[in-house]
Amino acid sequence: MTEKIDRVNELTDFISTKTGVKGLVDADITKVPRIFHVPSSTLSNNRPSDITGLNLNVPIIDLGDSNTSSRNDVVSKIKDAAEKWGFFQVINHGVPLTVLEEIKESVRRFHEEDPVVKNHYLPTDMNKRFVYNNNFDLYHSSPLNWRDSFTCYIAPDPPNPEEIPLACRSAVIEYTKHVIELGPVLFQLLSEALGLDSEILKRMDCLKGLFMVCHYYPPCPQPDLTLGISKHTDNSFLTLLLQDQIGGLQVLHEDYWVDVPPVPGALVVNIGDFMQLITNDKFLSVEHRVRANKDGPRISVACFFSSSLSPNSTVYGPIKELLSDENPAKYKDITIPEYTAGYLANIYDEKLYLSNYRI
Ligand code: OGA
Ligand code: NI
Repeated sequence: MTEKIDRVNELTDFISTKTGVKGLVDADITKVPRIFHVPSSTLSNNRPSDITGLNLNVPIIDLGDSNTSSRNDVVSKIKDAAEKWGFFQVINHGVPLTVLEEIKESVRRFHEEDPVVKNHYLPTDMNKRFVYNNNFDLYHSSPLNWRDSFTCYIAPDPPNPEEIPLACRSAVIEYTKHVIELGPVLFQLLSEALGLDSEILKRMDCLKGLFMVCHYYPPCPQPDLTLGISKHTDNSFLTLLLQDQIGGLQVLHEDYWVDVPPVPGALVVNIGDFMQLITNDKFLSVEHRVRANKDGPRISVACFFSSSLSPNSTVYGPIKELLSDENPAKYKDITIPEYTAGYLANIYDEKLYLSNYRI
């Protein structure tokens, strides 16, 4: 009981500082507060004893080849990665290096602003398009995660530039412009990887909505006690992630936490829950997490392709063309807003939320 009260007090203290995890680090703390501690078993990661024949490298796919006669090769690599890993990295994706550098730099710039400036963007009303969430996980996650984040709705109704803070305004606009161009390329390749018409996922509005989450993982004095992000799957059709050179992202593969190594200029692509559902388990939405790190800050930018952003009654279920007597539907129909509400309420549960919709 007293432990519970201690936790509530620690949490209240943390919230009342209104300076996020970065505020703790700026105050030169040398110990990670208990509200951030994960059970020690969470971080143990025994390498499989028999790794012969086990490929533990997240696939890297060169999209430059998709405009040439090697397109079939690219489609086949994407199919393999989406089926076996749920994760891959892409290079030669067309987003200029300068744009990647500038968005990372601007995310850092925002998070390193004075708290007074950042707190102007706290989630005080539901209509805010840009929200700084220095306690993003307070209500959903126990323990807390070692990071601060901000979120921004980008599509289908783009924010007014004035709604985005100056520190990152032009970079957010420029970067998401490129993400919106790259999206259809990836969804076409994924459609082909399913053996379907290349426009099918686009026609289903899988990339109509875009939601951006920009993370700042301050250096952590005791990285073996906490996590940057607890393990989760993504509430999206597809997620495009830009990470900096620090590292720490891990994906669960064959029961082993495999590092997703930073590759300069690359973007990480991962399958989200909605895609696993509509592909009837052909493509996998795989659990991933971010380790805390002594170095840093680590910056990452996640763009979630969805359609959940506005009230939306579209019903999604397994794609009919993929079903047969041998492969009957494995999931019930969902609407994205309904799924999202349940997902957010259960985000870090042991049980995968998607499994609630299994037939
Ligand atoms: C996420 C996520 C990973 C990262 O935002 O859903 O998994 O490296 N981010 O920040
Ligand atoms: Ni994620």
